[in-house]
Amino acid sequence: MGHADPILDVDVMDYQWVPFTPNRDFRKEPKIFVRAEGLYYWSDKGDRILDGCSGLFCVPLGHGRREIADAVHKQLLELDFAGAFMRSHPKAFQLAKKITEFTPAGMNRVFFTNSGSEAVDTAMKIALAYHRAKGEGGRNMFVSRERAYHGVNMGGVALSGLVRNRDTFGPGVAGVVHMRSTMLPENKFVKGQPQKGAELAEDLTRLVALHGAQNIAAVFIEPIAGSTGCLPPPVGYLERVREICDANGILLVFDEVINGLGRTGHDFASKAFNVTPDILTMAKALTNGMQPMGAVAVRQHIHDAIVERGPEHLVEFFHGYTYTAHPASCAAGLATLEIYQREKTFEKARELGQYFLDRVFELKDLPCISDIRGYGLMAAFDLKVKDGKPGLAGHEAQKRLFDAGLHLKATGDAIIMAPAYVAERKHIDEMISIIREVLSKQS
Ligand SMILES: Cc1ncc(COP(=O)(O)O)c(C=O)c1O
Repeated sequence: MGHADPILDVDVMDYQWVPFTPNRDFRKEPKIFVRAEGLYYWSDKGDRILDGCSGLFCVPLGHGRREIADAVHKQLLELDFAGAFMRSHPKAFQLAKKITEFTPAGMNRVFFTNSGSEAVDTAMKIALAYHRAKGEGGRNMFVSRERAYHGVNMGGVALSGLVRNRDTFGPGVAGVVHMRSTMLPENKFVKGQPQKGAELAEDLTRLVALHGAQNIAAVFIEPIAGSTGCLPPPVGYLERVREICDANGILLVFDEVINGLGRTGHDFASKAFNVTPDILTMAKALTNGMQPMGAVAVRQHIHDAIVERGPEHLVEFFHGYTYTAHPASCAAGLATLEIYQREKTFEKARELGQYFLDRVFELKDLPCISDIRGYGLMAAFDLKVKDGKPGLAGHEAQKRLFDAGLHLKATGDAIIMAPAYVAERKHIDEMISIIREVLSKQS
């Protein structure tokens, strides 16, 4: 593609330690965005790159939405920062209320964070505080799943079921046990929810028997596991997990950092699958990626159990961040959620999702692809392991796709697609044809 002189000198490239990136490889072949508009990025070399992953699942309305940028600009000039503790500001309350227009009924108390990782660790602390407030302080353990991704803070790393995300850091927070993932060989190339696998929910029954319900605080589930490469839940699986939690007094947390706010074509995956958790995390789509923000919504009785106790002059929940509910993030969140409602964005996402999945599953004939999965506007394909080195094929493919004009996310050998909800069929067609062209050359 284009060959304009890169904007960064080689010299500058040494200074940033790039996250979740092989840094030495990146410095040799940097992938740098300098501009974005609508569905496209532009690289430092002048190439136009189709954004097939909504940035990092966080730009569903496309890049550069002026209403959101204007709202942030106005807010910064009106009130740039309000102390987060013992102080607040109007938009924090307005955004919390607006979020509850999207969350499942009854999940009507909202705690703000700056990221999905912080939302996950906040959810863990809420679960612990809730049980203690109810006199069940023995409930200190958490259940997660193999292949889960719950962010990068220490709680989230302990919940993580992705081996490489854990093994650099030792055991981390103790007391987390894992169910198996719902990835089954017989579910290869299944579009949407697989019919097989609901029985894997019984892993939770086994863990409860082994560790004792009285010791378990919460189960963390991404309804559709995202970062690992899009694993939709088998039919009946989430319902069964919900039943086992209810029978054992265990809180169910849905981590909807990727799933939430439209990715499934519904407000939350929880509504798409008709299973309501006790605690729900969100981030990414909340501000269309224009400000960092995450949030945790809880059922009111959980909030009340923690907040409606103790003397009124004492802090009830010792938790929060300097930038909790930052005014600029709240302004971005309000502007974003208003657009979703006004433009019926999720309905459009739902319609586009069918076309998107049909086109993605056409890639099945490529010999280098070993599986495809998808739901709503998220899908992933697995590449066959190359040269006996897991992750090599995926890493090379995401670079070659970028060079050919398409930005997608790779996790190991899984390549993940998550276009903006405002994408058109022509963008999906462009995506598929670039993938086909690049991967046809891959054995
Ligand atoms: C399910 C889930 N939880 C938590 C996170 C962490 O969010 P962040 O990167 O904003 O900290 C992610 C990020 O992809 C995620 O997919």
